[in-house]
Amino acid sequence: MAQPNETITNAENTSPPAFDTRTWVVSPTAPADELESSLSEAARMLQAGLLVAFPTETVYGLAANARSHTALQGIYRAKGRPSDNPLIVHVASIDEFLALGRNIPQTAIRLARHFWPGPLTIIIPTAYGPEAACETARAGLDCVGVRMPSHPVALALLRACGLPLAAPSANLSGRPSPTTAKHVSFDLGGRISGLVDGGPSDGVGLESTVVEATDDADGGGRIVILRPGGVTREQLEEIVGVGRVTLDPSIVMKTPTPTNGPSADTAASTLSTSTSPLPHPQLTILPKQNSARAAELASIERLTAGTSAGASSDAASSPSPSPSPSPSSTTPGPKAPGMKYTHYAPRAPLHLVDGSIDFLLSLALPVVRRGDVVGLLCTVESRPAIDSWLISESIPSDLVHLRTCGSRADLPSVARELYTVLRAFDETPVQVILSEIFPQDGVGQAIMNRLNKAAGGQIITQG
Ligand code: TXA
Ligand code: MG
Repeated sequence: MAQPNETITNAENTSPPAFDTRTWVVSPTAPADELESSLSEAARMLQAGLLVAFPTETVYGLAANARSHTALQGIYRAKGRPSDNPLIVHVASIDEFLALGRNIPQTAIRLARHFWPGPLTIIIPTAYGPEAACETARAGLDCVGVRMPSHPVALALLRACGLPLAAPSANLSGRPSPTTAKHVSFDLGGRISGLVDGGPSDGVGLESTVVEATDDADGGGRIVILRPGGVTREQLEEIVGVGRVTLDPSIVMKTPTPTNGPSADTAASTLSTSTSPLPHPQLTILPKQNSARAAELASIERLTAGTSAGASSDAASSPSPSPSPSPSSTTPGPKAPGMKYTHYAPRAPLHLVDGSIDFLLSLALPVVRRGDVVGLLCTVESRPAIDSWLISESIPSDLVHLRTCGSRADLPSVARELYTVLRAFDETPVQVILSEIFPQDGVGQAIMNRLNKAAGGQIITQG
């Protein structure tokens, strides 16, 4: 069995703690009892207070015993996670959920019965006592976030260890959440004891929806979405009624205001001109790197610097994740503490482009003409226009890295591929990334929430 190396106990040591991360490859389609027994070693590690990453239908999680302060401290340390950001507790049944809370609103119970197992996290007042999630999982709050995942491997692991498992996404804080075991080992290999590889987390591909539910005096319910995710606002409205589901005000995206960027006409002329206009003033372009790998290592160094200190102080001194710009200076902070941090960010600055594909390409052209490298995050629908632009403008192939992320006609496909695509840019030497935006219906709300955070709120709007 993998054993933790002694360096973990040295809070002053800034190099990553060294673990011999044990990996088990399992098939999610295996019979449940077979799966459970193939996970017995992973379960024993969790019972012993070690950290094990595992797949869920949303993203990979990094699990520890939700009742063990010491085990949970390991999560904050391995991820470099701010200590004020509580963890979601995963359970294998509704009964376990009921045991974790007290005075649980009927609406919360209705949601659990309707959407579980599935990508919905419900915040409830916490129980106290030996059965409850420990204060470290709750980051000191008097409420706890609970979810019952639907991924067969996640359920088998929960049953095999017989514990509620606190599990944040299994990435270094600030990085895009992992949807494959490869992503997990890239971020956390050598920092955790175990990794269950159950194939891609390709059910949703984005984290669960986080909600708070209350009962009205009239017997109706109200829901506040603290983080949009796999269960959509429209699905929640089917349970409590339209007008009874709201978004936490601090995460409502500001409608972008038009900038002094090129107008549609200018954009068209930019495309056909042979002179080299200056890049759009809103674009942040990284200086050239010697190689993609050097850039990648610099990015990991930036993320892990100072993160091996103890859970109580690591985040405060860590340069990442940093608080995101608030949608409005007058709105209070988000009720889900994690929503105040910049997240999901690739190494190169990401800019969202609210406009036509021609407008997006007009922003890329001056950058490429300077010899800088551009990443384009687009959908299958935009590929033909981009391909013909590459030919008509004779763009050198090494200056544009194109990554296709699903189809506009099928937003769940965009959600499934988004994190893989964001991470893929880190393997290229791109100095700036331009992305299409998406309608905020259904899962589009979660896609835009994550893209907006990855872009640090940077949206360039066609004039
Ligand atoms: O899909 C998911 O939710 C994944 C998988 C692994 O289950 N987990 C995940 O965990 O995304 P994490 O830690 O990356 O995000 C949890 C979010 C954070 O924004 C956190 O602030 C919020 O949920 N949260 C957790 N407990 C809370 C609580 N008691 N009160 C308010 N917000 C809470
Ligand atoms: Mg996370």
